[in-house]
Amino acid sequence: MAMSVEAMPVKTMSVTPLSPALGAAITGVDLRKALDDATVKAINDAFDRYIVVVFRDQELSEADQVRAAGYFGKVHIRRRPANGRTPGGEYDTPFMMVTNIVENGKPIGSFGDGEMWFHHDTSYYPQPHRATFLYAMKLTSSGGETCFANMYKAYENIPQPLRDRLEGRKVLQVHDYKRRERIDLGKVGVANIQHHEQPIIITHPATGKKALYISRLMSARIEGFSADESEAALEALFDISEDPAIVYEHEWRLGDLVVWDNWASIHARKDFPRDEPRLMRRCTIEGRALGF
Ligand SMILES: [Fe+2]
Repeated sequence: MAMSVEAMPVKTMSVTPLSPALGAAITGVDLRKALDDATVKAINDAFDRYIVVVFRDQELSEADQVRAAGYFGKVHIRRRPANGRTPGGEYDTPFMMVTNIVENGKPIGSFGDGEMWFHHDTSYYPQPHRATFLYAMKLTSSGGETCFANMYKAYENIPQPLRDRLEGRKVLQVHDYKRRERIDLGKVGVANIQHHEQPIIITHPATGKKALYISRLMSARIEGFSADESEAALEALFDISEDPAIVYEHEWRLGDLVVWDNWASIHARKDFPRDEPRLMRRCTIEGRALGF
């Protein structure tokens, strides 16, 4: 399809911080139009600096969202999981609908209802996704906020003795389609679920800064620690990573396109009324292996 879209001058764009923790709103950008290189650079600079960027009042087709996502990297195409576990929705497209909507008895997307604990997306992959996009298409009358924690600040807040013990260690990241419980590896068996070992402290490939890389939902065990040592350290790190001082809580408005740096932040969802439809169109940017 031919695109007859006009370039937008950079002077219309502005960036407004949303909280002391992280996040900025980007205004003066209409993502239905192609952006010029200077604007794309300014957006990426804001993204590296603020970790989460919010484009308000957007009216985006699927093509618009894919074009916008493409400013941040290579858009990931979802494939059917090899292990046969298939959460709802379509495959071989960039999109997954994050929704509680059920049609003809079948969920039209994934992640249904309710609270979801803090996590990185795809931390259990060898190459965790670089960024995630959520576009708000239907919202409930209350609740459903998404909380984002700044993992650069979490790293800085680890007490030095604990930080010294974590240096050079890996953590096992796991995923079993849970939303608000830790996985009991004694019961499940790690071979039966998606998993990958990652550095506990990563060097962010884009910014070169160090970030804590654990989450309450997906981090199961610290390599080289006894079970008790691992649990004690993880509990301390979960609390550090969820400290309200480093968290921004996003209250959604229709037409928000929120983009988060999935290496430098973790996110969680608050509960919302089950009997009201909520619909977000999600896509991601491909990642790379994370190093110490
Ligand atoms: Fe997520």
